[in-house]
Amino acid sequence: MERVLDAARWAPSGDNAQPWRFRILGERRVLVHARDTRDRCVYDLDGRATQLALGALLETLAIAATAEGLQARWRPVPQDDPRELAYEVELVEDGRGGTSDLAPYIPLRATCRGPLSTRPLTRRERQALEAAVEPYQLLWWEGRARRQVAALLWRNGLLRLGLPEAYATHREAVRWGERHSRRGIPEHALGLDPLTRRVMRWAMGSRRRALTLARLGGGWLPVLEMDVFPALRCAAHFALLAPKPPAGPEDQVKAGRAVQRFWLTATRLGLRVQPEYTPLVFARYLVDGQPFTQDTASRRRAGAVASRLRELLGGTEALARAVFLGRIGAGEPPSSRSLRLALEELVERRET
Ligand SMILES: Cc1cc2nc3c(=O)[nH]c(=O)nc-3n(C[C@H](O)[C@H](O)[C@H](O)COP(=O)(O)O)c2cc1C
Repeated sequence: MERVLDAARWAPSGDNAQPWRFRILGERRVLVHARDTRDRCVYDLDGRATQLALGALLETLAIAATAEGLQARWRPVPQDDPRELAYEVELVEDGRGGTSDLAPYIPLRATCRGPLSTRPLTRRERQALEAAVEPYQLLWWEGRARRQVAALLWRNGLLRLGLPEAYATHREAVRWGERHSRRGIPEHALGLDPLTRRVMRWAMGSRRRALTLARLGGGWLPVLEMDVFPALRCAAHFALLAPKPPAGPEDQVKAGRAVQRFWLTATRLGLRVQPEYTPLVFARYLVDGQPFTQDTASRRRAGAVASRLRELLGGTEALARAVFLGRIGAGEPPSSRSLRLALEELVERRET
């Protein structure tokens, strides 16, 4: 159990929030629970990003269990508070045996925010990725279509930098001066050049500075570096579509499992991935008619992001089924990455 949980920790979560904790219930039973971050993170709309991450964690746990000759089974444990999610997991002997071929890649999978190779994906690579996510579907944007995604991310990036409600999230997420951080995202993993990093660090020092810089147009350089250039320097962008529109937290958890199978398969193929999740969040806010900002300019920008994304996906029906977006391409492992909290910090001992 300890080895399985130690591997599961490496699952990705938005801003490396690691919202999960483990309560050991027995030698082979554990309660995995998480509290979503919707109260403080504008990107965790209705807790969906946390639910996706929890799904990625459960999938990682299941894959890690195969290396012990075990199979993971779980059932959701209903919670009173909609922000809380819990799953009781049991590891059972697996007669079929066999370690998953994805198990070795659990600690190697990492977010790559720098430039990737523009070599198109081979048919074999695409087929392996498509098989990994079944019954989910992948939509691809390759070649010139990458420019349309770059244009979407340009607007989305400017929106994010100028969004008053996002300031606290960004401030909490970035670990300035760090190359490897156990919480949040280290500065060096952001994909910015040293000068822009310094400007950003200064600007993020206060909400007023950050928003003034964005209002005066100072956001274009970081957005070019973090969003537009990477969008052009990759093999393809992808959208993961659920078989039908997700109806609640459990469907998001299932989608998170598919995301992690995709990402680990990509890693096995020597491909790197960066999620591009936030346009989907803004589109969803607008589709659901939820107010997410007091700022009229931000609302207008979000409207433009939503309609471009819907166009790229080919309509409202695909937008309703889209659960994840990202870019992919061959590349070296990133030289800076997020690490994780130690297992002891994530395990709650049972009261005796
Ligand atoms: C639901 C979800 C959404 C994410 N969205 C983004 C994103 O929009 N941009 C980005 O660069 N990384 C995104 N990430 C990647 C996380 O920041 C990353 O997984 C986390 O910091 C841990 O780092 P690692 O993947 O290198 O282990 C997302 C991850 C998850 C699970």
